[in-house]
Amino acid sequence: MKKSIIRSTGMFVPPNVITNHDLEDMMETSDEWIKQRTGIEQRYWIDREGETGASDLGLKASEMALEKAGWGSRDLDFIIFATLSPDIMFPGSGCLLQAKLGLDSTPALDIRQQCTGFLYGLATADAYIKSGLANKILLVGAEVHSSGLDKTTRGRDVTVIFGDGAAAVCIEGVKTDEKAGLLASSLHADGNLAQALMTELPASKLPLRLPEGVPTNDVRYYPVMDGPAIFKKAIRMLPKVINESLKKAKMELGEIDLIVPHQANMRINQALGQFLKLDDNKIFHNIQKYGNTTAASIPLALHEAIDQERIGKPGDVVLFAGLGAGLTWGSAIYKFL
Ligand code: ACO
Repeated sequence: MKKSIIRSTGMFVPPNVITNHDLEDMMETSDEWIKQRTGIEQRYWIDREGETGASDLGLKASEMALEKAGWGSRDLDFIIFATLSPDIMFPGSGCLLQAKLGLDSTPALDIRQQCTGFLYGLATADAYIKSGLANKILLVGAEVHSSGLDKTTRGRDVTVIFGDGAAAVCIEGVKTDEKAGLLASSLHADGNLAQALMTELPASKLPLRLPEGVPTNDVRYYPVMDGPAIFKKAIRMLPKVINESLKKAKMELGEIDLIVPHQANMRINQALGQFLKLDDNKIFHNIQKYGNTTAASIPLALHEAIDQERIGKPGDVVLFAGLGAGLTWGSAIYKFL
């Protein structure tokens, strides 16, 4: 039976560091509020709006992952691109990345599941591998949030949390009898809560996709979020969905070497640790440096956790979990071969 094995990871963030103090110059906020409520100290934003899209950041992360795997882009037989900030409305960023990788016929699929995009992508890659549809897959999560944020006090609750960035993983189907690769995955969505976190415009349901005469500083052009409601939902649903995957993999929490959660808020992940009665060193945090990079967040954290040798030896087990817009949430358990 084939198992889905992560061969390599790659990451890229743009060079422009935005500290909390930089945000103080744009809106009424403070370094203290941001650090206390979210754990974030800085994030990276692209410096040339209009010239850089999600596929450009994704390309750099992909090149690193491909090089580390020893693969050329022509070795790929499938590309999955997770983003909520596609370069353009269509075609998807997966197609744009495919061309930038010098390819012209490799299939490319976009996933629009926000913070859970990587988890949906991992499950999709696994299904493609197990069904024989593909064997060498590039899974990318990439976001350019900064060009779509309300950088005034009105948008401060959302704008301070988001960072730009990308991460990529090379996944290969390998025949082995060992218990390894993606062991379990649990995905959920509740579209009834779509309005708790969304960007409304442009909208295909409107003529010309934009309301006539609406100024471009209309709040509907920017992400809006019911932060406290999502916070509570995350704390309630993440332990549940983690237990769901543990049950599917027939494993106990004690067998997990590291939890690599979506980096939405340090407090959410600390609360998760308390709920699961886990030592904080069993949970990986890098939100301080990057903010919430949405679809890039889990693979970016995985890349750093491997780089720091927190995880990655044969037999190590990592658990991924996240919740975000949709609402969508999920978890996955992966064992290194
Ligand atoms: N700076 C200063 N004050 C602020 C800021 C800011 N940046 N933002 C909000 N405030 C104020 C509010 O106006 C409010 O003031 P008031 O008490 O006078 O009304 C006060 O701070 C508290 O606001 P809350 O929204 O209650 O703050 P909370 O502690 O909930 O923190 C946060 C807000 C950080 C957004 C938190 O709710 C959160 O992290 N929620 C979950 C986010 C999440 O997980 N999203 C999903 C992933 S993202 C995705 O899927 C795309």
